[in-house]
Amino acid sequence: PHPFFSALREATPVQKVEAFMGAYVVTRHELIGPILKDTTVFSSRMMGFEQVMPQELGEDVLRYFRVEKALLSSDPPLHTHMRTLVSRAFTPRRVAELEPHLREITRELLDTMLAKKEFDLVADLAAPLPVTVIAELLGIEPEHRLDFKRWSDAIIQAASFTIRDKRPLADSIRQLQTYLESTIEQRRRIPRNDLISALVEASEAEGGFLSTLELIDFVRLLLIAGNETTTNLIGNGMVALLRHPSEWERLVADPSLIPNAIEEMLRYEGPAQSILRMTTQDTEIAGVPIPKGAQVMLLLSAANRDPRKFPEPDKFDVTRDAQGHLAFGHGVHFCLGAPLARLEAKVAFEELLRRVRRVSFAPGQEGHIAWSETFIVRGPLSLQLR
Ligand code: HEM
Repeated sequence: PHPFFSALREATPVQKVEAFMGAYVVTRHELIGPILKDTTVFSSRMMGFEQVMPQELGEDVLRYFRVEKALLSSDPPLHTHMRTLVSRAFTPRRVAELEPHLREITRELLDTMLAKKEFDLVADLAAPLPVTVIAELLGIEPEHRLDFKRWSDAIIQAASFTIRDKRPLADSIRQLQTYLESTIEQRRRIPRNDLISALVEASEAEGGFLSTLELIDFVRLLLIAGNETTTNLIGNGMVALLRHPSEWERLVADPSLIPNAIEEMLRYEGPAQSILRMTTQDTEIAGVPIPKGAQVMLLLSAANRDPRKFPEPDKFDVTRDAQGHLAFGHGVHFCLGAPLARLEAKVAFEELLRRVRRVSFAPGQEGHIAWSETFIVRGPLSLQLR
């Protein structure tokens, strides 16, 4: 996509693109920050699941997604309130405490993966790692972990453009709903040391600020926002390293570069390519008039390769100062899970580099990577390596 993004970015700062649902597409780094700061004019209401769920799922499923209080798609002051509430539950300490266990999970996955001469980095490591971690954080019972992955995939597939018949997904979405409803009820009665209990507690402390439907929506957001994205961060990072063997060698020689390398991976090929906003009034961006009610698509991936911000943007350099990249967004909706995503990627690459000196694409794989087909997320669907 980058030659296309780059052409867009260099042609004009703002462009109405019919192929992108008629949205006004913004590609330059310096324009995106101020838009994300101005939540009065550029509302997040387009970011709700309600907008992307297809009608064919049926009314009984669609109503699950119609909630008034939803973090991702609300604007201040409601958003501020919700963010405070979740921040109380999703603390940096809770994330940091995870590291030893996260390392253990990663090592187990690597044991199985590296026992094979050829493996799929996505299926064997990048996909199971985040779903296992978020399931543990939330407090999903081990016997439901596999269901949990299936349910989570069903929601992502329901929102994707490539799956034709979406009706079969309705069942999985219904099962997730039923499971979360009963889990929330249980945690109300007997709290545990998990994120669902902490969310329930934070809501109860405010006289039941969130309904059960809204609590379920919240949990579902944590589940979806952090799964495919983190999988793609590890997958995209690996592809970048395979295509730049000198950078792999630098990390082998000095693993302390890994956290910086992860910022560069986020900049170079971020998992979230774009986010949407909707204008609440007539406005303009860089002199281009935008009517009220228009969709504005912020192409984070294009901005992260803006040469005005990052010199030689198409060069992947694990020692580069990638600060200021927009891969996690910016402003009040800045990714809540960023510390967790960074930790997962750090541990994954640390453990991988500790045990693997040389790695290459499996024969016939390079140049034939199957990428996810939406312009919202970007990552390899599978990655056969040896
Ligand atoms: C928000 C990207 C991992 C939870 C966002 C946003 C982006 C993003 C771009 C901003 C959306 C907007 O402004 O409209 C990513 C990427 C990830 C990642 C690239 C992995 C590399 C995670 C993880 C979790 C998570 C692991 C949680 C477990 C959230 C939540 C929000 C969010 C809850 C909404 C925050 C709000 O609206 O205030 N993420 N994310 N993300 N992310 Fe992430």
